[in-house]
Amino acid sequence: MFPTTETAADALSIRSLSKTFAGLTVLNDVSLTIAPGEVHALLGQNGSGKSTLIKCLAGVHRPDPGSSIQVNGRQLPQTFPPSESSRFGLAFVHQDLGLIGDMTVAENLAIGTGFERSGPLINWRSQKARAIEILDSFGLLISPNAFVRDLPVTARTLLAIARAFQPRREANATPLSVLILDEPTAALPDNDAELLFEAIARVTAAGVGVGYVTHRLEEVFRIANRASILRDGVLTGTFLVSEMTRRSLFTAIVGERAATELNTTDTNEKVQRKIGDAPQPVVLRAVELTGVRVRDASLTVKLGEILGIAGLAGSGRSELARLLFGSQKLTSGSRSINDIAIAPASPKAAMRAGIALVPEDRRRDGCILDMSIAENITLAKIRTTSIGFLNLSAEKTQVKQAISALDIRPRDPSRQLGTLSGGNQQKVVLAKWLARNPKLLILDEPVQGVDVGAKADIFALLREAAASGAAILVIDSDFDNLANLCDRVAILRNGQIVSELEGQRLTTENMSQATFGVDDETDLVSVDQFEEKP
Ligand SMILES: Nc1ncnc2c1ncn2[C@@H]1O[C@H](COP(=O)(O)OP(=O)(O)OP(=O)(O)O)[C@@H](O)[C@H]1O
Ligand SMILES: [Mg+2]
Repeated sequence: MFPTTETAADALSIRSLSKTFAGLTVLNDVSLTIAPGEVHALLGQNGSGKSTLIKCLAGVHRPDPGSSIQVNGRQLPQTFPPSESSRFGLAFVHQDLGLIGDMTVAENLAIGTGFERSGPLINWRSQKARAIEILDSFGLLISPNAFVRDLPVTARTLLAIARAFQPRREANATPLSVLILDEPTAALPDNDAELLFEAIARVTAAGVGVGYVTHRLEEVFRIANRASILRDGVLTGTFLVSEMTRRSLFTAIVGERAATELNTTDTNEKVQRKIGDAPQPVVLRAVELTGVRVRDASLTVKLGEILGIAGLAGSGRSELARLLFGSQKLTSGSRSINDIAIAPASPKAAMRAGIALVPEDRRRDGCILDMSIAENITLAKIRTTSIGFLNLSAEKTQVKQAISALDIRPRDPSRQLGTLSGGNQQKVVLAKWLARNPKLLILDEPVQGVDVGAKADIFALLREAAASGAAILVIDSDFDNLANLCDRVAILRNGQIVSELEGQRLTTENMSQATFGVDDETDLVSVDQFEEKP
């Protein structure tokens, strides 16, 4: 149905695309096509060149000479401003979303497709009416006048998606031929991802070709017709998804040898964790935490333990993390580390007590993009050290260790963080907090945007951190991740912790049942039931 050879009717045809940054080849002679109506997945490990390829299509990067890109049979110029890409029938959702924080929602929607006009003037009223209509189609209830910098990450993602899908209004507008989405679901809850998949089905039915980057293999099987794999900037193959299994796709992405290694470490790890059953002291004790959505949440995390928080979007997971860390005000409740109470609503006090939070929104709160890898990793330490002198050589060693433990690429401590691939930026944020040896490490969506291979590395590292004396609390929308990583999982529903799962009962199915509120009373231990006992 979707030929692997090029035809004249391709929506997108890339031939011999190469891209070199200061002598370093990031894309090497890549050729690939997207047929009209096709969803073509672009897969590869962190740093393999997916986003760079997309930025070459979008006019953000200038491809090396000799490269050729055609949209609907029309050659793209060597250079053009990114704002012009819609004139060639292209639309994008970039990995960093490409929104402008200091502009409103309506203004951001107008970038690229133009403003509603009455003669020479912008017609703000119809501009806003149009914005509301587009936002509504993605279930987004936000004001067109809101500033984008004030929106939570899910809303920003949906806004960037809505912008890419919005109909072209101008009379002479080029119809959409190719839509490219770079990890659009990395920060999206499942129900919003469903809206996206429906929208994709609508545009492909109308003949649009879709390029889709993801690290979630289940999405590939769900929506993609073909998949192309990039490894170190080289396209290693294009496959019909219907002829692939999860295993063969995984192997194609990480390579034969790595796939075997990852398989064995994963099983070893599981066995190891079942052994250490000795009773451990409680590190975190949170008592009846109440915020805006979260009510009376009580939980403990023991030394060496990894506690997961499972919940649907809006159940209060990130708020719970902020209440624990003190970056959001507690209405009531208390928390202590090793039985020493922490002053309420102060991240400083929390950090002094040994709590670290890796936030969900790494671009806003997690890192500084124009500083180096080394500066970002040591940042959190420098800020909190009370001694005037910094031990630079010890820091250098630590940075080197972090780079190798998390396989951060490139392995150059002086590289500016903003030039790293998205997944590698996420690893730097993790390294920064692990370097502080926190007593309690809170992680909000820690493997967001991290590839299938690196995910296993990060989980191994977290298990190691727990085993060597930390308590860990993890929020992850992917229940498989929680089942894989955690010793125990607390279920958060409508701001309340309703039950806990551990041992045999800690399964993905039980988590989805419990978060949706269809838990079988005989199977799940209810915390409420516990507390009613005298
Ligand atoms: N502006 C730049 N200057 C120098 N190197 C860059 C620049 N942009 C990207 N690179 C390098 O190009 C390589 C590919 O990065 P890219 O962002 O395309 O990866 P990716 O496949 O999208 O990864 P991820 O899954 O983590 O998003 C990386 O090694 C990155 O460091
Ligand atoms: Mg990328």
